[in-house]
Amino acid sequence: MFRKALSITVLTLLLSTSCSAYIHPIVIRGNYFVDSVTNKPFYIKGVDYQPGGSSGVSELSDPLSDPLTCARDALLFQDLGINTIRVYSINPDLNHDICMSILAAADIYLVLDVNSPQPNQHLNRYDPSSTYTESYLEHVFKVVEQFSYYNNTLGYFAGNEIINDRVSAKHSTVYIKALIRDMKTYIEYNSPRTIPVGYSAADDLQYRISLSDYLECIDKNPNESVDFYGVNSYQWCGEQTFYTSGYNVLVDDYSTYSRPVFFSEYGCNEVTPRSFGEVQTLYSNDMVDVFSGGLIYEFTQEPNNYGLIQIEDNGNVQLLPDYFALKSQYQSIPDIDYQRIAINMRMNSKELQAKAKTQKYPQPQCQQTYDNLDISKGVPPSIADNLIERGVDVHIGKFVEISDSQLHTKFGYSKSNGEVYQIDHNILRVNDHMSGSEVKGKNRAGGFQNCTYDEIDNEKFGDEVIDDDYNETEEDTEEYTDEDDTGESSNPFSIIINKVSDFVHRLSHHS
Ligand SMILES: *[C@@H]1O[C@H](CO)[C@@H](O)[C@H](O)[C@H]1NC(C)=O
Ligand SMILES: *[C@@H]1O[C@H](CO)[C@@H](O)[C@H](O)[C@H]1NC(C)=O
Ligand SMILES: *[C@@H]1O[C@H](CO)[C@@H](O)[C@H](O)[C@H]1NC(C)=O
Ligand SMILES: *[C@@H]1O[C@H](CO)[C@@H](O)[C@H](O)[C@H]1NC(C)=O
Repeated sequence: MFRKALSITVLTLLLSTSCSAYIHPIVIRGNYFVDSVTNKPFYIKGVDYQPGGSSGVSELSDPLSDPLTCARDALLFQDLGINTIRVYSINPDLNHDICMSILAAADIYLVLDVNSPQPNQHLNRYDPSSTYTESYLEHVFKVVEQFSYYNNTLGYFAGNEIINDRVSAKHSTVYIKALIRDMKTYIEYNSPRTIPVGYSAADDLQYRISLSDYLECIDKNPNESVDFYGVNSYQWCGEQTFYTSGYNVLVDDYSTYSRPVFFSEYGCNEVTPRSFGEVQTLYSNDMVDVFSGGLIYEFTQEPNNYGLIQIEDNGNVQLLPDYFALKSQYQSIPDIDYQRIAINMRMNSKELQAKAKTQKYPQPQCQQTYDNLDISKGVPPSIADNLIERGVDVHIGKFVEISDSQLHTKFGYSKSNGEVYQIDHNILRVNDHMSGSEVKGKNRAGGFQNCTYDEIDNEKFGDEVIDDDYNETEEDTEEYTDEDDTGESSNPFSIIINKVSDFVHRLSHHS
């Protein structure tokens, strides 16, 4: 494959723009997540977060409705060193402004599932036609409507493991595409920015390739195609390697996927305590070209015994051995090799340019059949037009000012041996999350000096010197500057190519 190096001295390139006051939306370019402001590739380092499990969502509360528990847990997210959480169910009739603002200030992104176990709030995998209803879609759109206004909403999952056996594969496959289509169309018409929509799959070999291919392909309507793909993988148990775990096969199987892929759940618990050796591999050169990181299952201890922490009845937290094991893995993951990624992005954008000559979309055209899936009935027509046109009635999410006392937590933290866990009880304010609305004027300007994490990362990144003897050709240079005057939406290829090129361009030019 393409292994020519770039001839470049990387200077302070991303430094100037990287340290912004607000939390930057993440967007998708080809098969990478990137920061929409710096164009730097974004790797998900996270945990799945649903305290209380499926019963953790009700009329009165959900994982993001209580500012006090959000602060308690956000403090630990920072301590663990993560940048993303996945939440499986929320109630859109509750207010999530404070929790989302705390997370934004702490520099944490959210991947959110739109379903809940409550009636009319999920598809029945064995009987999708009677549960794909207007009132179900109204729930889905309320979630989307509310969370699209938070810049730290990274993406939505249309579903989690809807296909998990022969019967669901027979009945539900085409409904996943219908739901993705409806969500993407709703977002295009009603949301302030394009938030990507994905699907989180049980990693069953029967469907691994067929389902991901089917959800990626485009028949007539590009809105039916998934924007990213989550894999729930539990195949690395105990001491393993890239090869003995079979991760090498996973990488192979997704290596040509046109969209970002990541572990939406991982962390086998057949061998306990867990040592999480797979974390090192996931962020190593073996995987970073194909996988955009992953989310460890899961933050809180529930009956299935995957927890990093145990929440006690009074709300205090006991940190379990797995918490410390995971933290030390995160602390020692290798620096991501952005130089190599830039080279791969450039290669991808060349491949896309080639494809653009013969295809209408970057994604493959759908086949007639997919192994072990029944798609014979076709994607059901939308029943969402009314809702999409009218919009839904819900509190629209909004960042709010967060005081220092809201970033302070009074909960106690202990280790399993009863010892107090020594930790500063104040969340570090990484972003001045309110400063995004800079139109308001100069009183916002101070925030720029508070973005410590970005600054550190990018200094490291910027100091790196790439010095190879590959000479740029004229063609290479042309590709970077290939602006599309007709606007982003006119050609689905041009967006990817231009924006990826922008990152590569900045990485690869003498300043
Ligand atoms: C797909 O979504 C776009 C908005 O991005 C919308 O204009 C279009 O009508 C949708 N296409 C179909 C065929 O529904
Ligand atoms: C959200 O992101 C957009 C685009 O980067 C930016 O213009 C806006 O100011 C941000 N809003 C907030 C509240 O951070
Ligand atoms: C950083 O944030 C803190 C907490 O909001 C604030 O008190 C401080 O003035 C800020 N520092 C700068 C240099 O803006
Ligand atoms: C790059 O160009 C320089 C002179 O412009 C030349 O000496 C060198 O051999 C070239 N390197 C490659 C790999 O073509």
